[in-house]
Parts: sequence; structure tokens; C-alpha cells
Amino acid sequence: MADKIVVAYSGGLDTSVMVKWLSRKYHGEIIAVCGDLGQKDELTGLEEKALKTGASKFILVDLKHEFITEYVWKALKAGALYEGAYPMACAIGRPLLAKMLTEIAEQEGAGTIAHGCTGKGNDQVRFEVGIQTLAPEIKLEAPLRTWEFKSREEEMEYAILHNIPVKAKKDSPYSIDQNLWGIAVECGVLEDPTMPPPEDAYQLTVNPKDAPAESEVISIHFDKGIPVWVNGIHFDPVTLVNELNIIGGRNGIGRMDLIENRVVGIKSREIYEAPAAVILHNAHHELEKLILDKETFRYKQDVSNKIANLIYDGLWFSPLFSSLMAFVDSTQENITGEIVLELYKGNITVLSRSSVHSLYNKELATYTSDDTFDHKASEGFIKIYGLPYKTMSLVNNKLKATV
Ligand code: ARG
Repeated sequence: MADKIVVAYSGGLDTSVMVKWLSRKYHGEIIAVCGDLGQKDELTGLEEKALKTGASKFILVDLKHEFITEYVWKALKAGALYEGAYPMACAIGRPLLAKMLTEIAEQEGAGTIAHGCTGKGNDQVRFEVGIQTLAPEIKLEAPLRTWEFKSREEEMEYAILHNIPVKAKKDSPYSIDQNLWGIAVECGVLEDPTMPPPEDAYQLTVNPKDAPAESEVISIHFDKGIPVWVNGIHFDPVTLVNELNIIGGRNGIGRMDLIENRVVGIKSREIYEAPAAVILHNAHHELEKLILDKETFRYKQDVSNKIANLIYDGLWFSPLFSSLMAFVDSTQENITGEIVLELYKGNITVLSRSSVHSLYNKELATYTSDDTFDHKASEGFIKIYGLPYKTMSLVNNKLKATV
């Protein structure tokens, strides 16, 4: 009996052509699966389209809540921003999709999983490393790396030839990937790093120049590193992120134009919009500055960077990721409190920070007569603290004098 194949399916040109191509090549039963991470693509009508294209079954899984609570919140608590900026909407979504694909393969008795990633991107790595880790026996298929089509036009011809219902919409010049944590846009004119992004590359945010002339103030309350209230209102995790995407988007927050190092060794240029992610990372970081002791705060900066690299590089399910997340979770024990931000034409200004766990002590910090800091104690401290360097200079000066 031919093996069943689970296919990661979005209904776009690549995955539609892929389902047909696989059905002609393998004769095995094809199960098309789509995970909803809040990508806002047309999810209705997807089943009909998948079945028409050659799949025998279509499964849509709502992953939005799990995505935010089990994946996005971890990255937020970790302060994971790839190369210091990219909040990694795609990179965080892939391991969850990989997990979903392995679970469905198991449930359906399928021995193969196919995905529609190209051979030069990061997502093939994230899918395949994730799937190999979670289900090492599964066979992997990546038709886009091997098939005969050299361009979208050739795929389009194949689609027409085989009556594949691909929308005859005027194709966007961009490749777009979107979920609740943000949107990534590449290709077209963006491939030239000397060119600023055209306005039509942005989908979620207004141009900061066109944002309202009045600023908008928001308060965010965190509980153990996780945002729970916005402006005093309790939101479920998915709604909270949606709300902040709307609020940030209308104030031009969260646009990024980045050159980044891909796992496969090339540099690429991509445009990102992530209003909620940028607001939440800012607020969370600000709260940590108030609450974490100096050494933990400094150490966590290195851990954040390491975790960002692991996520970007497709190693979400690795032992090192789990171990570093255990450290992160222990640092979040006291990250409870409130941050007030002002959003204005693409900028974020911190207006207020407060927490019962705040280590900010006004009596120690003040320059007024309320000061309780022991100034005299600094003298002995600095003498000993600087002693290695004083000793070194004395030795060096002596040696110089003898030559
Ligand atoms: N460069 C980003 C990453 O590797 C996004 C990749 C997908 N981008 C896209 N426009 N389809 O996480």
C-alpha cells in the first residue's frame, strides 16, 4: 500500500502545485494540513481547494492560542530578538507547525511529511530539524528543492494545465509570511538593498509620517513576565496581541527594514512589521531593568542573544533551548508590574514603570538631603576594585624606566 503523505498546505501557488505534483508522483493518499497562526490568509474555501487539487483529506488546526501562550510568550520572556531586532514571527511559528504536522502524521498513520519551503531559506531547516527531532522515523519531502519548475510562471502553467484552482489575482511582487506576531515581506524591489522599501511593502502599519498628530498612551501590566492587561483591561492572549497590533499599527510602530544572516549562509533583506511584538518587547525589557538584579540582568542579555540564535536556526526543540528557557523562567518570577508607554509617529517613549518588586530605591539614588547612600564607603571599594590595574601600571612603568 502506498504511503500516506501529510502536506503542510497554505492554498497558495507553491503548495497547491505541490499537492498535485505529489499526487501524480506518489499515488499515495495526500492529507493537506493547515495550521492557523493568525495568518489572515483566506482560510475559508481552503478545504474545497485542497480536495480539488488532489488531496483526499483537509485538516485545519486553530493554533492561535497555543502559538501565543507556548511559543510567543517564551520568546518574549527570553527577550529573543534575532540580531538585536527581528522578533521572529516566522521562526517562532515553524516549530509549532512542525509539531502539528508530526501529530497529524501519527494520527493518520502517514510515514511522510512534505512542505513547500525553498532550498535557500531558513524555514526548510526549521521544519525539517523540528520534525526530525519530534518524529525521527518520518520521511521528509521538499518538492520545491527538486522539482522541474524554475519560476512562478512555470508553476502557473502547470496549475492551468492541471485545472488547479489558483486565484488569478494580480500577483503581489512580494513573498509574504504573516501570523499574529508579525509579518515578513521580501522579494521584488526589496532585493536591492540600496532601495528604500516602497510604501506598498507595508501591510499592517501606517507610515509614521501619516500617523496621528496626537500621541497615544497605553499601560501594560505583566504577571511573571507575561502581559495580562492593557489599559486596565484583561485580555486573553490572542486578543491582547491583536489589540496591540491595531494600536501600534495606527501609530506607525513596529516597522523594520533589515539585512540578516540566514542559516544557509547568505545575507537577505527583509521588511518586517510587528507592532505588538515591538511594544511588548520594549515594555518587558523596561520592567526587567527595574526588577532584575545587576548580574542577572547582564547575564540574561547574553542568554537572550543565544536563545534568539537557537530559535532562528531551527533549534527550538533542542536541549540547550529548554535549559536556557529554564533559566529565563526563573528570572521571570518577579517580573510583575506595570509599564506606561507613549506611542507617537513610530516612536515609543516610556512614561512610567512600577512594580512591588522594583529594586529602584529613591533614597539610594537621590542627590537631595534624603540621600542614604554611604559615599565614604566608595573610597575603599574603588581602591580595591582598581588595584589590579594600578599594580599593572606600576610594574609597566618600572619596566619602561629600566630600558
Ligand atoms: N527571514 C525571516 C525568517 O527567516 C522570514 C522568512 C519568510 N519570509 C517571507 N517573506 N516569506 O524568519
